Amino acid sequence: MPLLWLLLLFCGQQVSAASAVPAERVLQSTNVYSFDALPADSGSLSASVPVTQLAGLGDCQCRARCLSQSTCRGYGHSVSTSSCLLTELLPTPERMEPGTADWRWYARRGVRLLGEPCAADRDCSLLVTGATCFNSTCGCHGPVEEDGSGGCRKAGRFIAVGTGQLTGQPLWEQSGASVNECSAVCAANRTCLAFDLMSDGTCTFYSEGITSGAGSGRDVQSFVWSFRQPDGNPPQSYVPWDGGFLNVLPATTGLQAAGACFSDGAILYPNMAPEKLANLRTFFADHPASSDLVLVGMEDMVREGVFVTSDGREVTDLAWDAGEPNGGGGENCTVITQAGLLHDAPCTTAQYSALCQYVGENLAVGRHAWMNTPSTPQSPANGADGDVETFVDNKHDLAVRPLTWTVDLGAPVQVTSVLYASRADCCPMRNRFLEIRVGSHPTLFDEQNSVRCVSLHKHFMLQAYARMFRCETPVTGRYVRVARHRRRVFQFGELAVFGNRLATIGA
Ligand SMILES: *[C@@H]1O[C@H](CO)[C@@H](O)[C@H](O)[C@H]1NC(C)=O
Ligand SMILES: *[C@@H]1O[C@H](CO)[C@@H](O)[C@H](O)[C@H]1NC(C)=O
Ligand SMILES: *[C@@H]1O[C@H](CO)[C@@H](O)[C@H](O)[C@H]1NC(C)=O
Repeated sequence: MPLLWLLLLFCGQQVSAASAVPAERVLQSTNVYSFDALPADSGSLSASVPVTQLAGLGDCQCRARCLSQSTCRGYGHSVSTSSCLLTELLPTPERMEPGTADWRWYARRGVRLLGEPCAADRDCSLLVTGATCFNSTCGCHGPVEEDGSGGCRKAGRFIAVGTGQLTGQPLWEQSGASVNECSAVCAANRTCLAFDLMSDGTCTFYSEGITSGAGSGRDVQSFVWSFRQPDGNPPQSYVPWDGGFLNVLPATTGLQAAGACFSDGAILYPNMAPEKLANLRTFFADHPASSDLVLVGMEDMVREGVFVTSDGREVTDLAWDAGEPNGGGGENCTVITQAGLLHDAPCTTAQYSALCQYVGENLAVGRHAWMNTPSTPQSPANGADGDVETFVDNKHDLAVRPLTWTVDLGAPVQVTSVLYASRADCCPMRNRFLEIRVGSHPTLFDEQNSVRCVSLHKHFMLQAYARMFRCETPVTGRYVRVARHRRRVFQFGELAVFGNRLATIGA
């Protein structure tokens, strides 16, 4: 069991981090050596909570004793009696009872279990792999769910991805198994993310999913774990709705709304099913918008009358209000009425509230990015700076093909979707012949070392808009590359990447 001893000295005491936590994870989280003070009038820890009592200690020595025990999660100290109580259960307001003595209670930071208060994800993930801090409480959110014994397990299911798709070093093999047996074994193991099944019932398990466009070529059925959600918890302003999270933005233009959603890891509300739109009435009753009409994620910017959602689906059978759509080329965005009916509306007037739906954490933002040609004064970093107003631009006079922009996600990710924002201020049609690939090598993006997420041959958007594309299947790699084929000019505003970090899940 890796333990981290002797890191610090407190009041002459050697202190340690919590038990059962790998040393390298403790090192990333030095706040395990500090405490949150409970309010002075909190009373005393409930008599039902076991404590270790030590006499004749000052506050600092009491604290040092707690830190010297890897299982200590908090302490109480009484100045008048110099008494010190150590507890292995986190002191929280709910665990306190009224008391008269001058006890002060302190909760150890950085090591929190499910349901306990937290300030950051690492407070939760140190003891419980995969747990995150949401709404100031540790829990199993997004891609993980509670496993019933205090931990988080991956949430999702296996999907069949065709024949011989998996490459790389297998974890282990098992013979005489069915699809259901292999699924159950792999689902129960943190490290396992994919498996191959041979016709003789031999199952081969892998820690990564699809990493190569070439595949293994083996005559096997391939299955990949598909997480319920990408990594990430929504900003506090987002509220749960219909299995996701929504937020209403103040009045803005359609174009700015797409950018505002983008910076939250969100898209304009994409679900145009009539019953879903009608149900939003209940949502708006609790979360009123500042305008009667509210922007949602559908537009016909590229071809008049061909409506495409913010998550890239062409839609028909829409619940238009009477006489709508009626604006033609002047009204390319869409708003909904309080009754959930659609109107077309101008994209450029700032008179509508907007409805954003959370997608996930943008795993590319702030990451190192580069291009394969010299850029203009616009830095390649602009494509992953979280700001849709800044843009990426290559030097136009070079004969390099394809033109590429690559971002390093820092560690392997199973990528499920990308969100592309076009350049805001000009030339928005420069998005034809785009291909987005996910690779495991920083420069080799051939079929062997990378795999396609999406390929976009037609123009798909006009100015400043953001559109999400799901990968054809979830694909795994550390680098994401946007390549523009057959053209000299390569410009876009921003690329967000959504998916699941393999490290979070324990791979
Ligand atoms: C956040 O926590 C409060 C109380 O702790 C709870 O009432 C609320 O429903 C929670 N919000 C979400 C989005 O879970
Ligand atoms: C998962 O599989 C790996 C590789 O075979 C093994 O080392 C590990 O103990 C397994 N974990 C669980 C929880 O079964
Ligand atoms: C609206 O979309 C049409 C194509 O459907 C396009 O020709 C026109 O330029 C767009 N108008 C604006 C203001 O963007």
